[in-house]
Amino acid sequence: MSIRIRIDQGILTLQFDRLDKKNAITAAMYQALADALRSAETDPDVRAILLQGQPDIFTAGNDLEDFMQRPPGAGEGAEQAPVFQFLYQISHATKPIVAAVSGAAVGVGTTMLLHCDLVYASDTAKLSLPFVQLGLCPEAASSLLLPRLVGYQRAAEKLLLGEAFSAQEAHEIGLVTRVLPVAELHDFALAQARKLAALPASSLRETKRLMKSGALAEVEKQMADEGAVFRRMLVAPEAKEAFSAFFEKRKPDFSRFA
Ligand code: COA
Repeated sequence: MSIRIRIDQGILTLQFDRLDKKNAITAAMYQALADALRSAETDPDVRAILLQGQPDIFTAGNDLEDFMQRPPGAGEGAEQAPVFQFLYQISHATKPIVAAVSGAAVGVGTTMLLHCDLVYASDTAKLSLPFVQLGLCPEAASSLLLPRLVGYQRAAEKLLLGEAFSAQEAHEIGLVTRVLPVAELHDFALAQARKLAALPASSLRETKRLMKSGALAEVEKQMADEGAVFRRMLVAPEAKEAFSAFFEKRKPDFSRFA
């Protein structure tokens, strides 16, 4: 199983569980996440959602093998690709989402946090947005939401250079709600989710809607723009060089590309 899904005491827990590949997310895993989030919308037993990995790793982001072999949207309606279904569901979720991030959170592992409500990170968490390093462009409306959240220059540093940054820095720029010792993270996040589950669901729903609805049309448009560019770049030679370099455990050489 690569996504563990359970519902207990009002909380839907979605846990990445593919440790041998650093919880890299395959199309099947995106589909499982999208389906669980879609069902949660109408399931009265779900009052809050908890998204987590393991203490050593949140997720290494999109599975790069999948990117090479089965680029999303290549042979199907683009919006139907599991990754885009997942991004749609998480950005339109009406129930509160708590994220518990420990270890690396790469690419979509960081951009999905922009759609969560409470983001708790361990002091060992390392976030990164290496889209340019991979010959790609941002996704999940991060090119809109990150500059808006943290300011243009700080977003530009994260999105253009793609270097990993600490949980503490993520907290200082507003991307992480609170940083905790790794041993306390998952219990704390669960306790926060339990608090949410005990609150009036309608009040939470309306409060979340009121905070987010103003930006929703922009988020949808940005995701569509990003998705079109992303799909094109995914099959371009720069990305192929980056993915091959990763699996060959060498530095990519972009010098031949203008
Ligand atoms: N897709 C596919 N496989 C991945 C992967 C990914 N995104 N991330 C890690 N793996 C695999 C590795 O290929 C390796 O497989 P192997 O044991 O068969 O050789 C295994 O997971 C362990 O990864 P490794 O790189 O050895 O672990 P690490 O602890 O040294 O580093 C990361 C962890 C997450 C920093 C590193 O794996 C990484 O940078 N991954 C790629 C992240 C990325 O670019 N994601 C896409 C964002 S859009």
